[in-house]
Amino acid sequence: MRTILIELENVSKRYELRSGGVDALRGIYLSVAEGEFVAVVGASGSGKSTLMNILGCLDRPTGGRYTLGGRDVGKMSAAELAGLRGSEIGFVFQNFNLLPRLTALENVEMPLILRGEPHASRRDRARRALAEVGLEHRTEHRPRELSGGQQQRVAIARALVTRPSLILADEPTGNLDRASGAAVLETLERLGARGATVVLITHDPETAARAGRRITLRDGRIV
Ligand SMILES: Nc1ncnc2c1ncn2[C@@H]1O[C@H](COP(=O)(O)OP(=O)(O)OP(=O)(O)O)[C@@H](O)[C@H]1O
Ligand SMILES: [Mg+2]
Repeated sequence: MRTILIELENVSKRYELRSGGVDALRGIYLSVAEGEFVAVVGASGSGKSTLMNILGCLDRPTGGRYTLGGRDVGKMSAAELAGLRGSEIGFVFQNFNLLPRLTALENVEMPLILRGEPHASRRDRARRALAEVGLEHRTEHRPRELSGGQQQRVAIARALVTRPSLILADEPTGNLDRASGAAVLETLERLGARGATVVLITHDPETAARAGRRITLRDGRIV
């Protein structure tokens, strides 16, 4: 039997606003095994990004329980969660979120700098991560000197350089043309094949069809 990495039990998320509350997630039950490639689909506003923020420990549920790698996330302090994010989770966003003044190599090094890794070894690891996404020839380019697809592959290299067990990608191909999107998906699939668990959020049914499992959200519920 495969080990469970993600376990959501009756998880809910309510945003409180002065104008009223929004129930963005309602009673979510979800188990994801290590190494699974899961796509999350659903209409705009259905709760996909809210779910990703909770899975990535960027936000906490307002109800229910989230267990990640056997640890009850609800019982962890903010500092423990930050440590968990730094070592276990890699994020890829629709708008890449690269630092514009840094080179591709320096962007990929950033998570290792935050972890206090020494200069020589982090350079080396960042170079290897860029090679894994086929960008060993673009290490000195800044984001604006790269194509959209290349920028997204730099972002993926940055997500994988710490060897996280979980990769969370929110619409990673949303800003890319078909060919660049396909290259990004292939990279994510390769990571999955290497044992990382990948949760991919997408609007695109074709993209979702490539995942091992598809989860559809509607109005904060899994349907
Ligand atoms: N910070 C917030 N404060 C209040 N309401 C929020 C907040 N973030 C999201 N919401 C609301 O929660 C619901 C779910 O939003 P979410 O961003 O998770 O949707 P989504 O499925 O990612 O949509 P999209 O496909 O457009 O990115 C929406 O109704 C949204 O308006
Ligand atoms: Mg979203």
